[in-house]
Amino acid sequence: MKIGMGSDHGGYELKEFIKEYLTSKQYEVIDYGTYSLESVDYPDYGEKVAHGVVSGEIEIGIIMCGTGIGISIAANKVKGIRAAVVSEEFSARMAKAHNNANILAMGGRVVGKDLAKSIVDAYLNAEFEGDRHQRRIDKIMNIENN
Ligand code: RB5
Repeated sequence: MKIGMGSDHGGYELKEFIKEYLTSKQYEVIDYGTYSLESVDYPDYGEKVAHGVVSGEIEIGIIMCGTGIGISIAANKVKGIRAAVVSEEFSARMAKAHNNANILAMGGRVVGKDLAKSIVDAYLNAEFEGDRHQRRIDKIMNIENN
């Protein structure tokens, strides 16, 4: 599975840590930046990863900023994106199972590194349940078209 990652400076260290974790698990990771701790604007990176998902270059995205909030809001502005910001495993699992989130967002200043690994595992190992959840997602996606 090809996973795209992106962050601002507030999520940079967590991005690097999770990138290494995913690579060690044989996932192919495309890093859309940022590439240092220098201050940058999170919308730029949320948008890059979101475009990677909708273009099909990557299957899912994992994004971070200080809280995960700003970068997820930015990513969700791109048509077709369902970015979920989570800080514990249950929501990470539900984000896939019920919401079929195609981007997972976390806060580099919110979650610790080991928790972030568990969150990523919970999200990646979950399966979308479809059925009534698909109907609800269709309604969400219809909002974009109106
Ligand atoms: C940057 O200082 C910070 O505002 C950003 O990383 C993020 O937390 C925004 O939502």
